[in-house]
Amino acid sequence: MHVIRTIADFRAARRMLTGTLGLVPTMGYLHEGHLSLARRARAENDHTAAWIFVNPTQFGPHEDFARYPRDEARDTALLAAEGVDLLFMPSADEIYPAGFSTTVDVGGVTERLEGELRPGHFRGVATVVTKFFNIVQPTRAYFGQKDGQQTVVVRRLVRDLDLPVEIVVCPTVREPDGLALSSRNVYLGQAERAAAPVLYRALQAAEALWATGERDAERLRTAMRAVLHTEPLVAADYIGVAHPDTLVECEGRAPGGGALALLAARVGATRLIDNVVLG
Ligand code: PAJ
Repeated sequence: MHVIRTIADFRAARRMLTGTLGLVPTMGYLHEGHLSLARRARAENDHTAAWIFVNPTQFGPHEDFARYPRDEARDTALLAAEGVDLLFMPSADEIYPAGFSTTVDVGGVTERLEGELRPGHFRGVATVVTKFFNIVQPTRAYFGQKDGQQTVVVRRLVRDLDLPVEIVVCPTVREPDGLALSSRNVYLGQAERAAAPVLYRALQAAEALWATGERDAERLRTAMRAVLHTEPLVAADYIGVAHPDTLVECEGRAPGGGALALLAARVGATRLIDNVVLG
């Protein structure tokens, strides 16, 4: 695996590749969720690239950028073992040099849910993703369903700006007790870790109701809320049943084509998000 730190070196390495290139964008501190994307990218493309970049612009001023977990040596070994060909790990100055002043704003789908609670977050994501797509020039880019709204935002971005890349969304990888893998799970204390699977249990309650034919969005939200409330250590930020493309909150009957059940909650000082596709 070729570890590359500068844009110029990445472009030079990219020019040597023929055939398809699958890209796995990450902020590092890798777990099985990230590695499942790398495996899928490798299986579906002639070459595989990954990036590890803790993107400062997608963190709010009071968020965890400074303490976001990092382990370059371990991440490098994991990606090499998966057969990734190119690993791009630039510095923040390489990506945002002095004078950097262009941002990418996706409208609509960024205004709700995470976007409402984390102003500027998706501007940071859309800007860095656009920039890295231009540098890496992947055939396909692999994203996790775990960050459901992010997949909707990236799809919108690619469609609206005609970026020549196919977006592939991969299933959420979970712990045996249902907790979605996340680099942020290391923040959880013992009691918090024990409480955290309630997020997925709440989503499963919506899935179970959906399977019985329930389509009333408010009843689905109420079922999730009831499960989440059983854990005193967990405080909900939002509980949503939304249209899968627009993320507009469903009122009355959820669309026949399916909906997204999404939630965000604080477990102690740690903020977790999760979602499932209904239908
Ligand atoms: P990060 O949180 O490191 O996640 C990188 C990718 O891994 C995302 O597509 C995310 O959805 C996916 N992922 C995370 N946990 C997963 C799980 N349990 N199962 C399946 N996939 C999972 O998302 C970001 O980084 C950043 O916003 C980024 C897109 C890299 C832009 O900075």
